[in-house]
This record gives sequence, C-alpha cells and structure tokens, in this order.
Amino acid sequence: MTSRDHTTFEQHNKILNDDTARAAYAAEHNGYRPALLPRLLGSFLILSGNVIYGKEPSYLKFRAVEIIARVPYHSWDSAAYTLMTFFFFDEQRALSLAHTSRFARFAQDNETMHIVVISRLAVFYEKIGLIRGSLIPLWFAFFYFWWSYTLYFINNRWSYELNYLFEQHAYDQYSRFLELEEEALRSRDVPSDYLAWYGRTPADQYEFFRSIRNDELIHRNESIEAIAAEKARRAAKGGKK
Ligand SMILES: [Fe+2]
Ligand SMILES: [Fe+2]
Repeated sequence: MTSRDHTTFEQHNKILNDDTARAAYAAEHNGYRPALLPRLLGSFLILSGNVIYGKEPSYLKFRAVEIIARVPYHSWDSAAYTLMTFFFFDEQRALSLAHTSRFARFAQDNETMHIVVISRLAVFYEKIGLIRGSLIPLWFAFFYFWWSYTLYFINNRWSYELNYLFEQHAYDQYSRFLELEEEALRSRDVPSDYLAWYGRTPADQYEFFRSIRNDELIHRNESIEAIAAEKARRAAKGGKK
C-alpha cells in the first residue's frame, strides 16, 4: 500500500500519461484474479451500470461511477477506525490501520474531486435526471458501502479485490472515452474552482479525463498492494511469535 503526499501522487499521475510507462505500471497487476464473492459482487455492479447507463462511456455514466467509487474508501476508513478501538494496544496493528486510513482518506479526496468536477461538466453536455443522475447511483453507493465495510471485517482481501474490479472498470471506461471523444474533449475546457483548489490545471477536458484515467489505475494497483502489505504484516507478526 502506498501512502504519499499530494505532490508525489500528482507526479506519478503525470508519468502515467506516457503509454509505455502506463502499460508497465498496469502490467504489475493486470490479470489479477479475485475470489468468487468479489467477482460476483463486482460483476453485478458493472453489469447493472451497463444496463442502466449503456455499455459505452458518457458524462452521465461517469457521474454514477464516481458517486459509487468514493464509498469503498470511506468504508475502509470507517472499518479501520472501528478496529482501532479494539487494537490500539497492538502497536503494529495500529500502524497497519493508520496506513489503511491514510491511504483511504487520500483516495477518497481524489474520488471526491472526480465527482464534483464531473457532475459539473455533465450538466453542460447531457440531460441529468433525478433518477438516473442521483437516486440510482446513491442506492448502489449505499449497498456498496456496506458490502465493502462488511467484507473488510470478514476478509479484507475480498474488499480490496472488489475495489480492484470496480477501478479496473473505471479505468477501461475512461480509456474508451478518451479514444472515442478525443477531438471533442480537446476543444472543451474545465471550468472548475474545485479542481483548481485540488491542484490540477488541465488545459482541456482531454487532459482532465486522462488524469482521471490515471488516478483509477493507481487506485486499482494500490488495492492489490494493500493486500500484499496486509499479508506482510501478518507474516511479520507470525515470525515474531
Ligand atoms: Fe474516480
Ligand atoms: Fe478510483
């Protein structure tokens, strides 16, 4: 799991604009095969999204994806907070939980930027109704939060694996959007005070969505790295006994 500051994260994001660097980074965890339960839940989420919003990407679909994508990070932060109540006396465990919280809060802030900026863009280019624009994604986000939170307690690996699948889907959808809409996106600006506050200054929407695509790949990989970090912590603990 990687905990890092905003500047380092942004530098990494920019490196991933390079196709070769991104392919190498993606290859680190391409083809990872999650367990059956996260695969079933992940397929349900992704298939439902495709049925309701269409298979191809759109501003409306991204708005829904981003409403849902924030919640696993919040669930991990909440789960880590709860567990800290029971394990504060175990310094190594507390340290591991603190790493989880830091990673989750950082990613959550990043996802929040995605939803704030994308929902602002969406109203310019598509009709956003109450049901498909807000109610349905909030309904899915509610269940996703509790699935993610509960899985974290039962076997946190499953929770990370579910997020891996959702982030892979987000990465694929943004990649496809850049491919399909490059010309239009290069002619559109990103009027957002929130994005400026966050510290990103893309020249146009192509650069903006490219940076979002890169964020999702980082989230995907870091979900698997969180599993490895947890495994290493358990191994170290076992070795000390
Ligand atoms: Fe996102
Ligand atoms: Fe993400």
